[in-house]
Amino acid sequence: MDKTAKYFDHWANIGRSEDMEKGHGTTVNKFLSKISFEKKFSFLDIGCGNGWVVKKIAQLDTCTRSVGIDKSKNMIRKAKKTKISTKEQYYTTDLESSKFSAKFDVIFSMESLYYSVPMEPALHKVYKLLKNGGIFYCGTDFYKDNHLTTRWIKDMKIPMDLRSESEWKKMFKEVGFKTRIKHVTDPKNKTKWKREFGTLFLIGIK
Ligand SMILES: C[S@@+](CC[C@H](N)C(=O)[O-])C[C@H]1O[C@@H](n2cnc3c(N)ncnc32)[C@H](O)[C@@H]1O
Repeated sequence: MDKTAKYFDHWANIGRSEDMEKGHGTTVNKFLSKISFEKKFSFLDIGCGNGWVVKKIAQLDTCTRSVGIDKSKNMIRKAKKTKISTKEQYYTTDLESSKFSAKFDVIFSMESLYYSVPMEPALHKVYKLLKNGGIFYCGTDFYKDNHLTTRWIKDMKIPMDLRSESEWKKMFKEVGFKTRIKHVTDPKNKTKWKREFGTLFLIGIK
């Protein structure tokens, strides 16, 4: 079995999916609150964990379909158990082998893309899954410039692709995205890196 899927299957069992929802919630919610979802759109969350972002987006009137994929079957089991909208759909699959009959307007991922090593083929796949004009919002706390998070690679002992902010940006551009970046910090958090560096969001427009 895939080492990463096994790792997150365990995390789902010990309640770490809810910890991630809380831990990532502040910067993700702050970031999402600045986006205007005025036109109708379909949504895909890659590495959705317990599905908290899928559920949040499904509540928006303009959202037509909110899909979450995760390679951990236990994460998907949790997400399905707490379904609140008929617009929510969940699939146990990795991004790389996922198949969809229709492309998406908006794709999102928080703290999941760097588990594909190297990231380029995964990012190419995201590009393929987007409609022309579609947007990929990609959040990461794990990047070289945010040095206090770089030790996660030793702690977790699963493959992780560590890049700097400029390397992330370059990679997005090379795949074909028009790219912008945004830092979202959590100024009141007791964790130093959350206050000082925060989450790096890459915004890729196809
Ligand atoms: C750190 S967790 C983040 C979960 C969720 N996005 C959140 O913020 O709570 C990363 C998740 O991505 C999933 N994942 C990692 N690589 C993946 C891939 N290639 N395809 C699908 N899911 C993946 C893992 O199984 C895990 O549940």
